[in-house]
Amino acid sequence: MFVNLLGLLPISLVLQGVYGLQITTTTRQSINGIGASGAWWVNDVALFPTEVRQNVSELLLNQSHGAGLTDYRYNLGGGGVGVGTLDRAPETPYVSDGVYNWSADAAGTFFLKEAARHGVPIITLFVNSAPTTMTNNSENCGGTLITERIPAYAQYLTDVVSYWASQGVEITHVSPMNEPDNNFDDGDPTTLCGQEGMQVVPGQRAELVMTLAATLKAAGLSTVVIADESSSTGTYIADAPDWLNETVGKSLGANAHHQYGFASASRQQQVFEEGRNLSGGVPTWFTEICCYSAVDESEADDPLATIGWGEQYDPTMISGLRMANLIYESFTYAEDEHWDWWTALSNGVGSCTPNNSSCWDDIVADGWDDGIIYYDPNYSDTHYYDLRLTKRFSVLKHFTKGAPVGSVRRAVTPSTNTSEANWRVLAFDYPARSKAHESYCAPYGKCHQPIYSVVAMNAQWNASTIILTGDDAFKLTQPTKAYRTSVTEDYQEVDVPLLNEDGTVEIEAPEMSIYTIFFG
Ligand SMILES: *[C@@H]1O[C@H](CO)[C@@H](O)[C@H](O)[C@H]1NC(C)=O
Ligand SMILES: *[C@@H]1O[C@H](CO)[C@@H](O)[C@H](O)[C@H]1NC(C)=O
Ligand SMILES: *[C@@H]1O[C@H](CO)[C@@H](O)[C@H](O)[C@H]1NC(C)=O
Ligand SMILES: *[C@@H]1O[C@H](CO)[C@@H](O)[C@H](O)[C@H]1NC(C)=O
Ligand SMILES: *[C@@H]1O[C@H](CO)[C@@H](O)[C@H](O)[C@H]1NC(C)=O
Ligand SMILES: *[C@@H]1O[C@H](CO)[C@@H](O)[C@H](O)[C@H]1NC(C)=O
Ligand SMILES: *[C@@H]1O[C@H](CO)[C@@H](O)[C@H](O)[C@H]1NC(C)=O
Ligand SMILES: *[C@@H]1O[C@H](CO)[C@@H](O)[C@H](O)[C@H]1NC(C)=O
Ligand SMILES: *[C@@H]1O[C@H](CO)[C@@H](O)[C@H](O)[C@H]1NC(C)=O
Ligand SMILES: *[C@@H]1O[C@H](CO)[C@@H](O)[C@H](O)[C@H]1NC(C)=O
Ligand SMILES: *[C@@H]1O[C@H](CO)[C@@H](O)[C@H](O)[C@H]1NC(C)=O
Repeated sequence: MFVNLLGLLPISLVLQGVYGLQITTTTRQSINGIGASGAWWVNDVALFPTEVRQNVSELLLNQSHGAGLTDYRYNLGGGGVGVGTLDRAPETPYVSDGVYNWSADAAGTFFLKEAARHGVPIITLFVNSAPTTMTNNSENCGGTLITERIPAYAQYLTDVVSYWASQGVEITHVSPMNEPDNNFDDGDPTTLCGQEGMQVVPGQRAELVMTLAATLKAAGLSTVVIADESSSTGTYIADAPDWLNETVGKSLGANAHHQYGFASASRQQQVFEEGRNLSGGVPTWFTEICCYSAVDESEADDPLATIGWGEQYDPTMISGLRMANLIYESFTYAEDEHWDWWTALSNGVGSCTPNNSSCWDDIVADGWDDGIIYYDPNYSDTHYYDLRLTKRFSVLKHFTKGAPVGSVRRAVTPSTNTSEANWRVLAFDYPARSKAHESYCAPYGKCHQPIYSVVAMNAQWNASTIILTGDDAFKLTQPTKAYRTSVTEDYQEVDVPLLNEDGTVEIEAPEMSIYTIFFG
């Protein structure tokens, strides 16, 4: 018979963490998508052999065999006017107000259609810059949205969403301003910009959000608006009081932000709670991050080191677990409902040529950690089209599978046992008859009907054990499936840990590993 040992023990022993980490019955936010974007690699991949392009689609979007992204962020281009790099200059369907060329941006729309074909549950359309007739410098970077053109801009976005709906592609979310705090002008009038960008000053944002929501609704679309995708907690909290209130919140499906300031977990907790408060409770979404390294170089090997914006190409578990820790902080502290990596593919390989197996798997100082899959930037000369998967690719799958759309995060009480200090653990409920249930059943054949999952990472260069327990109101059950990514494995199925007689489950992990464990 099960004995609730915790209930019988003096509180002091519990506080010492004798029974390790506790999975509680307290449910927190719902999870509503985990993804990456289609900027800007689609223009390169359009020139690859068709079977490689199809493979990219399967690797990212296939819900049963690939990473199974549950959000795909389609970048609606402004036309690339003023942008100096071909692959960062997406075509736009906009010709003039109300006149469109639906053949434009075939490179980007290929993956938009693939996302729909694969049944990706959340499809977000995001914009770095409006068309040139709507920016005050008539370019797709360096300018500001023209206030008088907000209705035309909203109509254009709505027409694009309506068109795709007529093609069987349901765009669930629209983001009309990506990083509106930055117009991506490099300040040098003699050079072109590195990417599209458009300033939308805080005083314009409420009008843009409300006008777009009303225009979508008038067109009979259920697509919702997300905003404002501020670059960092600093820009978010500085600008939010100028545009976000409960009235605007009624037009907002999600309160979206980036995290390029790499704010601490406690800062994120405070800032995004404040954001939800301002908006009347609109859920916060984490919609972009990439490109980090340890702030203190002596901690370069430590996956839990303080990180900041920085150059490097790191395909290893160090960067993989740093990504996992960012997701952990976003879900556990910021209590975001959604999490996106920046771009799905990158060619930022630095000085390592992707055909060189002696550097491919190692950290290269002059590349960028902006993708989860990499390709050769010089493919047009080398005709080298192989794809390289980083550990971030496999790590992200632990979350798309462990935290499907419709799952609900359960509060976890961290262990106070110092030998478990380098673990980070999350738990997700799968409410009966929810989307989370269905999505689990599809990939694994005969459905086990998991009730909850645990995503747990051992973020250190040492094998380690952690003991999971339930709380007074809840006892753990026998795990049914377990998957692991480590230095040597990629979302590989492993033996399930056993439920002990005392109601605990012990995970014995190799160094630098992450698990997704489903419980029946
Ligand atoms: C601390 O955690 C380790 C690993 O889970 C476990 O073996 C040990 O018994 C725990 N110590 C205490 C005092 O609970
Ligand atoms: C539409 O866009 C395609 C792709 O860029 C281009 O080839 C074509 O000329 C455009 N059609 C019109 C009418 O502008
Ligand atoms: C996903 O991949 C599996 C295995 O390759 C394949 O059978 C299935 O058709 C793919 N799904 C879609 C929607 O293409
Ligand atoms: C565009 O608007 C911004 C913000 O009002 C202003 O600073 C900038 O000078 C304007 N640019 C042009 C080219 O008019
Ligand atoms: C919220 O902001 C909008 C747009 O600026 C404004 O029209 C409205 O009056 C504000 N509502 C409240 C309750 O402050
Ligand atoms: C958010 O609102 C709640 C309820 O009014 C309040 O207790 C909390 O302190 C607020 N949080 C922040 C960060 O402003
Ligand atoms: C690509 O080609 C350029 C010019 O030849 C060269 O400088 C660069 O190192 C190459 N990059 C890779 C990753 O091969
Ligand atoms: C990789 O490709 C480059 C450019 O084609 C070539 O110069 C180099 O020798 C190749 N490296 C290896 C290890 O094959
Ligand atoms: C492959 O990478 C290694 C390690 O960075 C480097 O020493 C070597 O020169 C590279 N080989 C080629 C052919 O580029
Ligand atoms: C897809 O790419 C992956 C990663 O490079 C590779 O392992 C796999 O063989 C490719 N599959 C196909 C069908 O080309
Ligand atoms: C691994 O654990 C042992 C025993 O606790 C400790 O002495 C050692 O420093 C750890 N190694 C690393 C790389 O953290």
